[in-house]
Amino acid sequence: MLTLLSIFSLAALIAAAPSATKPYQIRGVQAPIYHLYLQGLPSNKSMPVMGPEASGEFFNIGTTIQSTNTSQFLNIGTSTTSYKPLSFGSNATTTAWGLEGDTIITTQGSSYGRRM
Ligand SMILES: *[C@@H]1O[C@H](CO)[C@@H](O)[C@H](O)[C@H]1NC(C)=O
Ligand SMILES: *[C@@H]1O[C@H](CO)[C@@H](O)[C@H](O)[C@H]1NC(C)=O
Ligand SMILES: *[C@@H]1O[C@H](CO)[C@@H](O)[C@H](O)[C@H]1NC(C)=O
Repeated sequence: MLTLLSIFSLAALIAAAPSATKPYQIRGVQAPIYHLYLQGLPSNKSMPVMGPEASGEFFNIGTTIQSTNTSQFLNIGTSTTSYKPLSFGSNATTTAWGLEGDTIITTQGSSYGRRM
């Protein structure tokens, strides 16, 4: 499994819904996370990692991203560095998510800009 440390990693994430139904799994489409799926680390569910499809969680994606498996929200943390850490939390602190086609983005007008 690979720890997902930066929102820039999300440039490579798409919402994968086999039958075009929600909720979605979130899949990597670029190396090194190609064909890995977003999920909480088994030993620490607040830590987002990319891992096997079989253990990939399902997410409702709107302005928030919430796991239907753990009810945890995917949030972008604060950091003084140019990349921002991701975490799962019980409250949605990031409400600027969006989908453009099947690509996961942060929406225009958010403080994150459109980096994905
Ligand atoms: C679990 O992961 C979160 C988010 O990365 C981190 O803040 C927290 O310290 C971790 N907890 C443990 C017990 O490692
Ligand atoms: C997440 O929930 C979905 C839908 O209920 C289920 O099919 C899947 O097995 C669950 N995944 C995990 C890793 O618990
Ligand atoms: C989540 O929100 C509730 C209600 O506003 C608050 O009581 C709680 O402390 C928050 N939890 C975290 C982890 O921020």
